Amino acid sequence: MANLEDKGGIFVKRSIFLAITLMIALVISSFATVTIVMTAGAVGAELQVLQTQIKEFMQQNPDIKVVLMPMPNSTTDRYNLDVTYLSAQMPVPDVLFLDTIDPPAFADFLVNLKPYFTDQELSQFFQGAIDNDTYNGRLVAIPWFVDAGILYYRADLLQKYGFQPPKTWDQLIEEAQYISQREHIQGFVWQGAAYEGLTCDFMEFVHSYGGNILDENGKVVSDSPQVKTALQTMYDMIYKYKISPVGVTTYQEEDARHIFQNGDAVFMRNWPYCWPLLQATDSAVRGKVGVEVLPEGTGFPGVHHSATLGGWELAINKYSEHIPEAVKLIKFLTSPQQEAYKAINAGQAPSVLSVYNDPAVIKAVPLFKSLYNVFMNAEPRPKSPIYAQISQIIYDNVNAALTKQETVDQAISRMTSQLKQLLGQ
Ligand code: GLC
Repeated sequence: MANLEDKGGIFVKRSIFLAITLMIALVISSFATVTIVMTAGAVGAELQVLQTQIKEFMQQNPDIKVVLMPMPNSTTDRYNLDVTYLSAQMPVPDVLFLDTIDPPAFADFLVNLKPYFTDQELSQFFQGAIDNDTYNGRLVAIPWFVDAGILYYRADLLQKYGFQPPKTWDQLIEEAQYISQREHIQGFVWQGAAYEGLTCDFMEFVHSYGGNILDENGKVVSDSPQVKTALQTMYDMIYKYKISPVGVTTYQEEDARHIFQNGDAVFMRNWPYCWPLLQATDSAVRGKVGVEVLPEGTGFPGVHHSATLGGWELAINKYSEHIPEAVKLIKFLTSPQQEAYKAINAGQAPSVLSVYNDPAVIKAVPLFKSLYNVFMNAEPRPKSPIYAQISQIIYDNVNAALTKQETVDQAISRMTSQLKQLLGQ
């Protein structure tokens, strides 16, 4: 009896224990959070801004936890990491931030977002950016911010020496030489390292002289006097006119920005993200900076002011186990309110058109109004699933010329033959 009673007691105790465990599990699961992992960069103020946004998103959505996964600054390194992540066919990272050039290469690994957005929602974005993110009829990313290469100049120094912002590269060289020699600072800093940023800068020179690397049919047309002049101009800025330091051949965006922000250069080619940082209280050039469209070339028909179109997109890994939550996060980050916050604090140009009418945004970053046409006319890079290889041929050869490993002529002819071989021409 006693035994049975004991057993009965144990049974009752076990049942109670099981019931309590079940209840706890139920309570926990009703509060259970889904964790989504998102890749994140840290150029300029972008990481701080994103962290604040994510905090707000998690407050609004207590059932979703977002973990940020740090990525390197160079878009080329980011691309290589994304290749590793996506080809592993793992569920994380769930949300990826991709360069504007990346969607064709990754399209097969990304969720088609079309069913998750209404036409009305999509109509708020730049149509060109939506087209950019559509590949083989699938909308594989949502535009997050757009970019265009621009010229930053020291308005105080140009005024001191009686110069206007330069309209041509020749004028920029003249002003940079004159001022840098007197002020003992650099003349012009830009992105000359062997990575995607150099392709962006180089394309601006090429277009500005009326040349191109691939024509509208994808034919390689890089062996031209315009393209040679573009590369020769970049080379001469370093070795002939000495307005750019030899070190520019190792610079990425942040290297150029630090020098310019420190007051150590007259001109800088960079993206809009620099603006809020240059105006911050710890900046040596606060209130002394102007922005303009990049100069144009001279001596050829078709010379024009050119800006490379850049920007970043948000996409979802096809193998993610939390697609609805990831969509929710993308909708939050691309809402007009969040894009305005990001534009003001990270200087990243909105992908949603209406945000350009927000007075607070224009007040904080006036270039979004004054250089609006530069954004509208910015020139895209080729849309190709093998863009990364095309670009690598470009920046490797350009960098080889800029570091004197090849002559300008050798670099252009090698670039041309390598591109032709890659593209089967
Ligand atoms: C910026 C642009 C991006 C470009 C990169 C090059 O991040 O937005 O499109 O590829 O710079 O460094």
